[in-house]
Amino acid sequence: MVDRPNKPQALATTPGLPPQAQVNITHDNSRVSAVLPSGECIEVLLHGATVTSWKDRAGNERLWLSEAAKLDGSKAVRGGIPLVFPVFGTAPDHEPTSKLPQHGFARNSRWDFLGKSTTESSGQTDASVKLDFGLSTATIDDEAKKLWPFSFSLIYSVTLTPDALRTGIVITNDGDQPFEFQTLLHTYFRIGDITKVKISGLEESAYIDKVDGAKEKQQTGDVTIAGEVDRVYHPASPETPVVVSESGEAKFSIVRDNLGDVVVWNPWVEKAQGMGDFEPKDGYRNMICVEAGAVKAWTKLEAGDAYEGGQIISV
Ligand code: BG6
Repeated sequence: MVDRPNKPQALATTPGLPPQAQVNITHDNSRVSAVLPSGECIEVLLHGATVTSWKDRAGNERLWLSEAAKLDGSKAVRGGIPLVFPVFGTAPDHEPTSKLPQHGFARNSRWDFLGKSTTESSGQTDASVKLDFGLSTATIDDEAKKLWPFSFSLIYSVTLTPDALRTGIVITNDGDQPFEFQTLLHTYFRIGDITKVKISGLEESAYIDKVDGAKEKQQTGDVTIAGEVDRVYHPASPETPVVVSESGEAKFSIVRDNLGDVVVWNPWVEKAQGMGDFEPKDGYRNMICVEAGAVKAWTKLEAGDAYEGGQIISV
C-alpha cells in the first residue's frame, strides 16, 4: 500500500471536551450502566433500583451478587444493594406497615430512570456520574398501594467516582397525613474470606442480636464473623466510618448521612442452604452485608416534609 504524503490526522473524538462518563440503558430497558473514563463502572437494575455491580478499573467486582439472583423482576435481588423501604423485616405490631412483605415494596418495584448528571474532569481521575431513579405512589403497583396507602415519592441517587460509590435517598410525604417509615441500604460487599474479615467503627455500640432472641447487647472491639450474624447496631459515634477490613487491610469505609443504624448480616451455612436464590451455597464465605439504615425506630414524616439519608462507600 502506498502511503500518502499529506495523509489527514485522525480526528480527536470530541475535540476540546474533557473525558466524560458513558451511560447506557441495556437489556430491554431493564438496566442502566455507567462507566467512568478511568474505567470504574456500575450497573443498576430498574427492578428495585438495585445496584447489581460495582467494578474497579481493572474489572474486579466489589459487590457480591448471588449466581441464582433473580434479575427478571420476579423477586428482590439477592446481592448488590437492594433498597429497603418502608419497613425493615416485617412489623406485625406496627399497624400501618403490618401487611407489607419483608423489607417492604421498594426493592420489588420497577423504578423509573430519571436521568444522569456527569461532572467534567480536567484529567481522567476526577470525573463522576450520578444516576437518579424515582418511585412514587403513581408508579407502584395496585397491590403495594393497597398494603401501604400513603402518598409518597422517592428519589434514589447513585453516584460513582473513581474511588467511591454514594447512594442517597430522598423520601417525600406527598399526602395530607403523616407516615412512619424505615429504610436501609442493604449492601452486600464481596470479600475473599469471611474468617479474615473485621468490622471496625461499631466498638462500644449497643446492638440487637436477631439470632439470640433480639437481646440487647454491647459490642466490645471489632466485629468478627464465625457463624450466623444478624445484628442491628446503633453506633455510639454516628460520624465514625464503619470499616470492613480483610487480613488487616481496609477494603471498604462507609460514612453515613442521617442513617443512624448499621445492620451486619451473614447467613452462614444453614441459612444460605435454606435460601433458594443463594448460590453458590458456600458463597456466605465471600460476602458480608453491612447495611446503613434508619431501622431501629420509626422515622415520622409530616405531610409535605422530606427526609434525606445516604452512604458514601470509599475504597
Ligand atoms: C437483613 C436482615 O437485613 O436481611 C435479616 O437483618 C434478613 O434478618 C436479611 O435475613 C435478608 O433478608 P431477605 O428478605 O433478603 O432474605
